[in-house]
Amino acid sequence: MYKILKKKQLSAVVWLMEVEAPLVARHCLPGQFVIVKNGEEGERIPLTICDYDREKGTITIVFQPLGVATNKFMKLEEGDAFDDFVGPLGRPSDIVEMSEEELKEKKFLFVAGGVGTAPVYPQVKWLHEHGYSADVIIGARTKDLLFFEEEMRSVAGNLYITTDDGSYVHKGVVTSVIDELVAEGKTYNHCVAIGPMIMMKFVCLTTKKYEIPTIVSMNPIMVDGTGMCGACRLSVGDEIKFACVDGPEFDGFKINWAEAMKRTQMYKTEEGLAKLKYQEGDTHHGNCGNGGNK
Ligand code: NAD
Ligand code: FES
Repeated sequence: MYKILKKKQLSAVVWLMEVEAPLVARHCLPGQFVIVKNGEEGERIPLTICDYDREKGTITIVFQPLGVATNKFMKLEEGDAFDDFVGPLGRPSDIVEMSEEELKEKKFLFVAGGVGTAPVYPQVKWLHEHGYSADVIIGARTKDLLFFEEEMRSVAGNLYITTDDGSYVHKGVVTSVIDELVAEGKTYNHCVAIGPMIMMKFVCLTTKKYEIPTIVSMNPIMVDGTGMCGACRLSVGDEIKFACVDGPEFDGFKINWAEAMKRTQMYKTEEGLAKLKYQEGDTHHGNCGNGGNK
C-alpha cells in the first residue's frame, strides 16, 4: 500500500498528492511516469511524476479528476493509500542524458499548458539544481486554472504567464507568447512543450517557423502504460513507436499529429478500437506483440 502523505487542491480542477513510494523515489528521473490504481477492478492511470524526494521516499502526482478512477482518487484523504503505484516507467527526459557540453549550449524554452504544468516542473527544477537556466511559459484558460506559479518562478530563469481570457497577466495562448519572445530578440535552441495535444501541435508549428527543435510528451494518448494495450501507438517520422515504452517524449516535428489525434478519438469507442485492431494487425500492440484484452 502507498500512503498519501499530503493532499492539496491546486486549482479549480487540479489536485496534488504526495505519496509514500520509496523505491520509485529512489530510482525515478524527470520525464518518467507511474501507474496508479486503486481497488481490484480499478482503472490503471498513467501519471507523469511531478516531483520526488529521495530522502523522504515520496513521489508527487498531479491529476485532474476526469473519469471514474481519477474522481475516486480525488476522494482519498491524507492517511489513505493507493493499492498500486508502479514505476518509474518510460524513458527519462532527454535533458538528463545530455552531456555537460550539450547542456551548456542549450537555450531552453519550456511551454506548459494547463495540467501539463505539472510534468514541466521537475525538468525545469532538475536543470536549476544542475546550474542551468530555462525560460518557461505557462498557459491557462483563466486565472482560476493556473497553478505552480511560485514553484515554477523559484526554478525558472524567466517565467511568462498567459491566460486565454486575459484574466491574469498576459492575454493569449502560449504560442502568442513564443511569437512575442522571438520578436523581442530572445533566442532558443531547445523547446519542450507539454500540455493538451492540440497545444503541443500548435507549439510545434510555431517553433518550426523559428527552427527551434521541440520535444513533446505524448502521455495523453496512453491507456494502460505498459506496452500491451496498443493505445499509444504513433508514427514518429518513418517509425512506429509506443508512447509508454519508447517515450513519453518525442521529437514534435516528426509526429504525425493528424493520425495521433484521430487515433485517440477512435480509441474512445469499441467500434473505433475494433477497426484499429483490424487495420494494424500484429503491430497494433506494444512491446509484447500480442496485447491484452483491449
Ligand atoms: P487547456 O485546454 O486549458 O489548455 C492549456 C493551455 O494550452 C491554454 O491556456 C493555451 O495557452 C494552450 N492551448 C490550448 N489550445 C491551444 C491551441 N490550439 N494553440 C495554442 N495554444 C493552445 O488544457 P488542460 O485542460 O489543462 O489540458 C488537459 C489536457 O492536458 C488533457 O487532455 C491531458 O491529457 C493533457 N495533459 C498532457 C500532459 C502531457 O504529458 N502531455 C500532461 C498532463 C495533461
Ligand atoms: Fe498501452 Fe502504451 S499505453 S501500449
